[in-house]
Amino acid sequence: MQSSCRADQILRQTTDPDKLEERAKEKLSEGGWYYASSNAGYSTTHLANRQAFYRHRIIPRMLVDTNKRDTAHEIWGHKTSAPIGFSPVGINKIYHPDGELPVAQVAKELNLPYCLSTAGSQSIEDVAAANGEGTRFFQLYMPHDDELTVSLLTRAAKSGFSACILTTDTWQLGWRHDDVANSNYAFYHGIGADLGLTDPVFQKRLAADGIDPKTMPNEAGAKWIDNVWHGRAHDWKKIPWLIKTWKEISGGKPFAIKGIQSVADAKKAVEVGCDGIVVSNHAGRQVDGAVASLDALEKIVDGMLLFTFPSFTTAY
Ligand SMILES: Cc1cc2nc3c(=O)[nH]c(=O)nc-3n(C[C@H](O)[C@H](O)[C@H](O)COP(=O)(O)O)c2cc1C
Repeated sequence: MQSSCRADQILRQTTDPDKLEERAKEKLSEGGWYYASSNAGYSTTHLANRQAFYRHRIIPRMLVDTNKRDTAHEIWGHKTSAPIGFSPVGINKIYHPDGELPVAQVAKELNLPYCLSTAGSQSIEDVAAANGEGTRFFQLYMPHDDELTVSLLTRAAKSGFSACILTTDTWQLGWRHDDVANSNYAFYHGIGADLGLTDPVFQKRLAADGIDPKTMPNEAGAKWIDNVWHGRAHDWKKIPWLIKTWKEISGGKPFAIKGIQSVADAKKAVEVGCDGIVVSNHAGRQVDGAVASLDALEKIVDGMLLFTFPSFTTAY
């Protein structure tokens, strides 16, 4: 993305995060705002996440030659502009009718990795086209229907998604007060089931139940929720199958688990053959009371030093 500013021009966009948040609240629909801003429970984990960043202070070093700077980074063989990536964020159409497409395009322009959520609101293929030559990863919410899982992974691999990241902290949505009070579940209002609606296996499942998504979008969304989430967890026993399946489909591309918060689970992830983990608590949107991710990351990095392999990625 290119931006240029003449001396007589004033930047109309604020760079102050609090003011940006206020502007987002003004601009978004009520549902979009609630979905973006709701945290689990009393938001204590959301607060802990922020406090951990305030607590970890930087000690600036002086008289270092910083005239030529290089933030370039490499993740899983991809050279990116910085060690920063676009986290998976679902249902982008509740923010803008184009949904994930412009976000994927900007990620490519910035040369940063883009991660598409299974709860995305554009098809896997269209997001891939918008991302073009960019680096992209696929975040899997694993259905309880293996044929559907295989179909989603096959489409992702064919569309150039070069890693699979399984999110493990969201078998059920957290208790988010504003969303609950306003029944703010886009899937039940015809938005956010797009990865399913464009999937041949899920289309078969809909047809078997007599659900026509054109005339019954809410029922189709409800079935998508039912097939993928709805409180049914997978456990460690399923992971070797998923890794093997993804590796076969993708020709050996990396597999990571997102949602890890403890040294014990990080070690298990290595044991079962993951290529990386994402240390995350879903921005405090799932388990209120969970430890701050930055504190967890510190412990995991310390705890893994004796254990890890050189290529193991602990966060992105
Ligand atoms: C509005 C919103 C939607 C999100 N949707 C998803 C999603 O679909 N899949 C997912 O794995 N994470 C999702 N996340 C979590 C983010 O990917 C990311 O983990 C989080 O924003 C950063 O917190 P962390 O540092 O604890 O990871 C979402 C977060 C927000 C704020």
